Amino acid sequence: FEFTPANQTWAEAQITKYPEGRQQSAVIPLLWRAQEQESWLTKPAIEHIADMLGMPYIRVLEVATFYFMFQLKPVGTVAHIQICGTLSCMICGAEDLMAVAKEKISPTPHTVSADGKFSWEEVECLGACSNAPMAQIGKDYYEDLSTENFAKLIDDMAAGNVPLPGPQNGRFAAEPL
Ligand code: FES
Repeated sequence: FEFTPANQTWAEAQITKYPEGRQQSAVIPLLWRAQEQESWLTKPAIEHIADMLGMPYIRVLEVATFYFMFQLKPVGTVAHIQICGTLSCMICGAEDLMAVAKEKISPTPHTVSADGKFSWEEVECLGACSNAPMAQIGKDYYEDLSTENFAKLIDDMAAGNVPLPGPQNGRFAAEPL
C-alpha cells in the first residue's frame, strides 16, 4: 500500500499537527484517508499507517476494528449500507430492512453482492432514532425506511441514481424558524 502523492503529503501534514511524541493521535484521520482512497482498509494500508506513526500494527488494528466507520473487508462499488439495528430501529422494522438486504445484496453481512455493487452490515445506533428505522449509506442518512422504499433505494442506486438523503416517506423536517 502507498498513499497517492497528494494523500501522502496530506497525511504527513496531519502528523505534524501533534506535539513531538504524540504523532499517533493522527491515527484516525490517516485510517479514514486510506479508506477513502481504497474504499476499505487492507492489511498493507494498516501496516503502512502503523509504520508512519511508529505504532505497533496491533494498536492501529485495534482502532480500525473499534469504529464501525472503518471497513476491514471489501465493500460494494456503489454503496456499503449500514443498517441500524439498535432499539428504536429494531422496534420499527430494522429486521425487515435486513431481510431486504439479505435478499437483494447478500445473505450474509460484509459480503459483496454478486454484481459487485453493494455490501451491507448491521450497526449500532446512529443517533437518528426519531426517524427509525434508518440506514447510513456513505456519509448520508436515509430515514423513515420501509421495506418498499428501502428496496427502491437500492434499485435506484444500482441504476446510477442517488436518491435524496433524509426521510424516505415524504416527511421532511419543518422549515427552520
Ligand atoms: Fe437506530 Fe438510534 S436506534 S438510529
